[in-house]
Amino acid sequence: MAKNFKYITTPIYYASGNPHIGTAYTTIAADVLARYWRGRGDKVFFLTGTDEHGAKIAQAAERAGKSPSEFVGEQAQKYVDVWKKLDIDYSQFFRTTDPKHEKIVQEFATKLKNQKLIEKRQYSGLYCVGCERYLSEDEIVDGKCPDHKTKPVAQSEENYFFLLSKFRDKLIKAIEDGDLNILPETRRNEVLGKLRQGLDDVSISRSSVKWGIPFPGDQSQTIYVWFDALINYYSATHIYDTVPWEDHPADVHIVGKDILWFHAIIWPAMLMALHLPLPKLIFAHGFFTVDGEKMSRSRGNVLDPVALSKKYGAEPLRYALLREFPFGSDGDFSEATLKLRYDRDLANELGNLLQRVLVMIQKYDIGVIPTNVEGSLSVVRSDLESFRFDSALVQIWDSLRQGNVVIDKEKPWELAKTDREKLIKILSGEYDRLSQAAEALAPFMPETAKEIHRQLTYLDPQPLFPKK
Ligand code: MSP
Repeated sequence: MAKNFKYITTPIYYASGNPHIGTAYTTIAADVLARYWRGRGDKVFFLTGTDEHGAKIAQAAERAGKSPSEFVGEQAQKYVDVWKKLDIDYSQFFRTTDPKHEKIVQEFATKLKNQKLIEKRQYSGLYCVGCERYLSEDEIVDGKCPDHKTKPVAQSEENYFFLLSKFRDKLIKAIEDGDLNILPETRRNEVLGKLRQGLDDVSISRSSVKWGIPFPGDQSQTIYVWFDALINYYSATHIYDTVPWEDHPADVHIVGKDILWFHAIIWPAMLMALHLPLPKLIFAHGFFTVDGEKMSRSRGNVLDPVALSKKYGAEPLRYALLREFPFGSDGDFSEATLKLRYDRDLANELGNLLQRVLVMIQKYDIGVIPTNVEGSLSVVRSDLESFRFDSALVQIWDSLRQGNVVIDKEKPWELAKTDREKLIKILSGEYDRLSQAAEALAPFMPETAKEIHRQLTYLDPQPLFPKK
């Protein structure tokens, strides 16, 4: 099969926070796609990392009693460690404090300036540090940011503005013509609707923030953290050994719905301004609540992916997160959900079938069965290509459940006495079913898939998911 190149990204997460189940969700989904592509022979560049500049980070460093650079170094390491525990096989971990990136961001700003797309203006507004942006009047609820429940701070400063409004018509056209794809469809329509209402210019520098990349030609200002962060997708392709953005822009930016506007509007406009190609697709996934409530530190319901993976295993966690609700929708998740998926889907349905089939193959001396896994991915291919992780997993489990039904109905232990030919046919059919399930499951649960193949190859039944 011809080797295609695929470039996939996650957001770069704020170094002020620790990795949590929400950021794990996005990163696991990107990892599944990256593994799926690699599995079919593509060359993949999978980028993730940390967003390390700005007021929010500086404040968090101060609270921790550390210098910003010491603080971000430790925080970035936490992400690296957690992604390792969750089996995330990224190609590069990106940090915005990389001096090479800082230089590229400055060059980016300089090019915009040279094109007269940057203007200095006085700006007054209400700034939310949690969001790292100015909020408009209609976004503020009871005097507070609805997401962070904090009062935005009145700020008035002279900033450099990127003339985003000039790109409104071009953006609308790019989205309408399919040059810039946004999924799910409902999100695309929301973005288009908002664009049609108007588009304001956006400030891309801060005079009040010290912890940032100096604005070219004006030491009194630093570059706005979002401008800096979005460029990571571009600069990574020039810093690391991969295909430059100019030749192959991102195939997909996976983001949460909270940051779609930055990715679907500001980022493409920045690229248009420099005549750079647009990302092919931006996929905005939903948010999940925990036991029906928004996850928040004050509620004490923030799920820790490391604790959960210690208890149930990283792969059951990956499985349960992607299985529970469609990727583009909001949903709910909790430890109880994970436990149920572990006991029922993994231990009973998958583990049990594997155990039963292998034990019987040995007991009735069926011998080694040549298996055919060709085409086993075809069941999940179209689902994976359209980000329907849940549906891919439902299909795999429909087949496993069917396997258990076949065994219960055909009763190989009786066939062993009456019809050996049929016994062989039934057990080899189930053996094939399991090999194919393992193959299809590999992007989601790579180690489990390997272990299933191992047990099948050596006819060595071992419990896959011990009772918790
Ligand atoms: N630093 C910016 C992104 C810059 S990208 C150029 C940022 N960082 S963040 O740490 O706040 O991460 C936000 C992302 O975390 C969301 O877009 C989403 O991917 C993920 N999630 C955070 N909470 C989540 C849920 N409750 N549910 C699902 N995803 C969640 O924004």
